[in-house]
Amino acid sequence: MNKVTVVGAGNVGATVANVLAHKDIVKEIVLLDLQDDLARGKALDTWEQAPIDYYSTRLMGTGDYKDTAGSDVVVITAGVPRKPGMSRDDLITTNAKIVTSVTKSILEYSKNPIIIIVSNPLDVMTYAAYKTSGLDKSRVFGMAGILDTARYRAFLASEIDTSPKEIQAVLMGGHGDTMVPLPRYTTVAGIPVTELVSEERIEAIVNRTKKGGGELVQLMGTSAWYAPGAAAAQMVESILKDENRIFPCCVKLEGEYGQKDIFLGVPVKLGRSGIKQVIELKLNDDEMALLNESAAHVRKVKDSFDAMGL
Ligand code: NAI
Ligand code: 2OP
Repeated sequence: MNKVTVVGAGNVGATVANVLAHKDIVKEIVLLDLQDDLARGKALDTWEQAPIDYYSTRLMGTGDYKDTAGSDVVVITAGVPRKPGMSRDDLITTNAKIVTSVTKSILEYSKNPIIIIVSNPLDVMTYAAYKTSGLDKSRVFGMAGILDTARYRAFLASEIDTSPKEIQAVLMGGHGDTMVPLPRYTTVAGIPVTELVSEERIEAIVNRTKKGGGELVQLMGTSAWYAPGAAAAQMVESILKDENRIFPCCVKLEGEYGQKDIFLGVPVKLGRSGIKQVIELKLNDDEMALLNESAAHVRKVKDSFDAMGL
């Protein structure tokens, strides 16, 4: 695989391109934005970083979809981010139009790419891109779970005062305040987290994770980009290197976890052909109830998208 396109050269898109360039695993990255000079500038800046950080990845900035021709993987970050006081769902009217039009334009020049959605509201924007593209469900999916799990892992690492490298965890559901971190499936160097952290502290960390995006919006006046960009780049890496890594990703469910016709975050195996497997964990009744609640929330937002008739 030789070419990755990132649509949207804003905070998240530029970070995806920069982190991916550092991995030195793809020949060319195209960064596309409506603000074409912004895309050119950020691509050039990352290329000028190459002699310092020692990578060979070529970068190009553009506003013209012709330059994206033959992309193997496309990451869509185009759209507006939220401001303090807004929920991700408030972005739907603007971002639905952007994501559907970007998806159409990409497919004019790349026949069967893998598309990773980042734009919010994530679960429904992924559904929008899938529906617009007509691509197989294994090739259109969204980034949120790696980010949300990373926040959860970072908070746990601070609590235990250990390296985040030691924390393994999985989290499911929609990318919103109803997301479902799973302490029962969280370990610290193989030790169940429940043996090291009190129930009360785990609950506080779970609650902070659920609102983790909002915490950063309050601090910065716009949403986060370093961890989100690195998370999307990690997904691209697993695809390009056919690593079959297991990540929570937003994918189309067809009966798994009792859910149908919905895009929702679940653990999957991710490799060269995209989503290779949805992994079905045995959830207990409480966990399943939280997942159902999260799915119900995503369905409401999906209904608003469907009502837009795009
Ligand atoms: P930003 O405002 O920094 O960048 C967005 C870029 O999209 C801008 O440069 C804008 O010119 C471009 N754009 C808008 N319409 C376009 C179009 N039709 N074609 C091409 N480019 C277009 O925003 P930021 O912070 O990069 O966030 C981007 C999106 O990602 C937001 O919707 C945000 O909510 C979402 N997000 C999702 C996360 C996740 O976990 N899934 C995490 C962080 C952000
Ligand atoms: C985040 O969680 C806003 O979805 C974005 O940071």
